[in-house]
Amino acid sequence: MSDRLYIFDTTLRDGEQSPGCSMNLDEKLRVAHALAALGVDIIEAGFPVASPGDFEAVHRIASEVKGPTIAGLARAHPKDIERAAEAIKPAEHARIHTFIATSPIHMQAKLRMQPDEVVEMAVAAVKQARSLAPEVEFSAEDAGRSDMDFLCRIVEATIAAGARVINIPDTVGYMTPQEFGGRIRELRERVPNADKAIFSVHCHNDLGLAVANSLTAVENGARQVECTINGLGERAGNASLEEIVMILRTRADRYDIQTGIDTTKIVPASKLVSQITGMLVQPNKAIVGANAFAHEAGIHQDGVLKHQKTYEIMTPESVGWATNRMVLGKHSGRAALKSRYDALDVELDGDKLNAVFARFKTLADKKKDIFDEDLMAILHGDEVDAERVKLIRLHATSGTGDTPEATVELEIEGELHQATAEGDGPVDAAFKAIKSLVEPNGKLLLYAVNAITAGTDAQGDVTVRLQDGERIVNGQGKDTDIVVASAKALIAALNKLPDMHAREVHAQYSGV
Ligand code: KIV
Ligand code: ZN
Repeated sequence: MSDRLYIFDTTLRDGEQSPGCSMNLDEKLRVAHALAALGVDIIEAGFPVASPGDFEAVHRIASEVKGPTIAGLARAHPKDIERAAEAIKPAEHARIHTFIATSPIHMQAKLRMQPDEVVEMAVAAVKQARSLAPEVEFSAEDAGRSDMDFLCRIVEATIAAGARVINIPDTVGYMTPQEFGGRIRELRERVPNADKAIFSVHCHNDLGLAVANSLTAVENGARQVECTINGLGERAGNASLEEIVMILRTRADRYDIQTGIDTTKIVPASKLVSQITGMLVQPNKAIVGANAFAHEAGIHQDGVLKHQKTYEIMTPESVGWATNRMVLGKHSGRAALKSRYDALDVELDGDKLNAVFARFKTLADKKKDIFDEDLMAILHGDEVDAERVKLIRLHATSGTGDTPEATVELEIEGELHQATAEGDGPVDAAFKAIKSLVEPNGKLLLYAVNAITAGTDAQGDVTVRLQDGERIVNGQGKDTDIVVASAKALIAALNKLPDMHAREVHAQYSGV
């Protein structure tokens, strides 16, 4: 029988830690359900001691998401471990993931501890975690730059204390593939009780080697890989889940190793994470980039038409590109809805189907196209982008020597409002006009434009991130007109601000 590789997804913890990627509770739940449908083995749902919000998210995911093991992160501190244990308690399968740094630079400069004290603390943490949870994983943070003798010592001690998964992170993405693979082999050979634990790796992408390093670790006996959707994560990110999984599947001739991932759910999961975090996927990103299966050159197109395998080493359908093309709308019936949920591995019948169908119809009245991400959201009773504000009309002018100007007409909770504003460009003018009509209207944290395909007729895909007090929301808009796409993205974000409403008086109001 071939080997099994466990996929540990940390999109909701390491991914969520990356700048601008924070998610609210509902968004985390939607991602967690998508990860369960994808078939990941372990979901690292968060860092419970970090904040009450993190605790609540881990607790809700542990209560609601069935299938994968739910892990909570904890430093090797008693309080962290208690909070993690409490947060993961409702899970079908629960794991505490505790860590402490083991490299000389981290021990001296950050922890200000002696190596003996670090070993003692790690052992105490694992023992405490073992007394509170059925499964314990121990990570030696910055293992890539740790002394090998010391690493062997702490790994042996933590396995003896009860850790059944030992994670070797390349925290700063410093390792090269041969070097990192060698570390895993050496640990497995030198640590006397190594056979009692599964070796795991957690690679960061600072030098673009996270996936390569993870793979050489697998070649050398690692059987858990920690990774994220779209490669999100601290700084340059973590190893990308979709790349690892598709390498193992596409090159099954080299790697006789299975994962539990349903690869046809990869693209829907990638889109959901991108939509929620506002982190666009670069078009030429492997597997999930918009151009990953696009053939532009004539010779390539000719070849693919004659035989798909001339230029495609995997099919777009196998990673979920085609399965996500069907869009539901207000004319879709119960059978179409049920069949779409079937494709998403969600069984719906009887009363549950009726309830979800009613929510679907309400949403379809407000929103033209309903995507898989929306279906997963209404399944759990969430409000999806309730369109309290709708763009009715936008007219923008700009040109050499002219002052850019935009007039917008919005429907706000059923009433029409219009405003005109000048700006530094047509997008700036449109944003000023829209913002003059609603409040609160948030502070603009991010404005990003991406062309979905090549050519001047391409659809622009705009992401806008707004901050209103503690709350950060993202909106996306698509249109062949970039000013319209931008206005749609701003309005989508505004619709996520719970108390957003029409402004009573605004500078250039000309009610219609
Ligand atoms: O990068 C890292 O070392 C981590 C650990 C907490 C596993 O994220
Ligand atoms: Zn990390």
